[in-house]
Amino acid sequence: MRTLRTTREVRAALFGARTSGKRIGLVPTMGAFHDGHLSLMRTARAESDVVVVSLFVNPLQFAAGEDLHRYPRNEADDAESAATAGVDFLFAPSDEEMFPPGFATSVDPGAVALGLCGANRPGHFEGVATVVTRLFGIVGPDTAYFGLKDYQQVAVIRRIVEDLALPVEIRALPTVREPDGLAMSSRNRYLTPEERERAVGLFHALQHASSRYAEGERDPAVLCATAAATLGDAGLDVEYVEVRDAETLGVYTPERAAVLAVAVRVGDTRLIDNIVLAPALKPVQRFAGRTNWSEA
Ligand code: PAF
Repeated sequence: MRTLRTTREVRAALFGARTSGKRIGLVPTMGAFHDGHLSLMRTARAESDVVVVSLFVNPLQFAAGEDLHRYPRNEADDAESAATAGVDFLFAPSDEEMFPPGFATSVDPGAVALGLCGANRPGHFEGVATVVTRLFGIVGPDTAYFGLKDYQQVAVIRRIVEDLALPVEIRALPTVREPDGLAMSSRNRYLTPEERERAVGLFHALQHASSRYAEGERDPAVLCATAAATLGDAGLDVEYVEVRDAETLGVYTPERAAVLAVAVRVGDTRLIDNIVLAPALKPVQRFAGRTNWSEA
């Protein structure tokens, strides 16, 4: 695996592959790799001729007072993990490379970025959309891989790809979970042992609401109240619990699939998770293995 720092290096490294029609897969990341990242890399490896992983802690997507400065950074460990997952190129640019003098463009994904995480993290999804658009421009991937734990992020990326006619296929892969169900996240590293124990309440809340849904409950207020009660019992501070249309993230109607999305605070750490509630899926399918739902 080779580490690349500049747009010029990326273009030179991929020139041969691109001109000979090879498929390029991109996994955009902010580093601090866990099994969720590695599953994206392994899938990219299986489906692409050339795999590029970008590693850039994007300042545009952190609001003032968020965890930009304490976000875990260990490029050497990440490079080792990526190499083991069969990645060809790690693109780890500097801030100056990503935002050269004169950089001024911002990508606003519109309504899909409002509400849920967008309501509590002003500018977050514009920051994500801007940097992902630039990464697509630099790498020119045929396919880009994202995890469904960041459900709204996936919806945002799909929106910009559609609206800006970006020639890239988006693959959204299931959330990877710890054995007790907690969704893997780079931010789990912030948790104290006591907070880690409480954090699993997030998964239990999704399970309880999902069981109510499987029993026939379709009232979003009841589903949210079920989840909120479990979060409260676990001592988690609820930022939001919402049921939205699974595809548009707009208002939920019972004849269509829903997503139940949750954000909580555990001590100083903000965690998110979600589950898709769809009539066709039985609970056993939803919770089989360590994943919740896949469009794959
Ligand atoms: O999901 C992430 O790690 C980031 O939001 C992303 C997509 C790499 C953009 O900075």
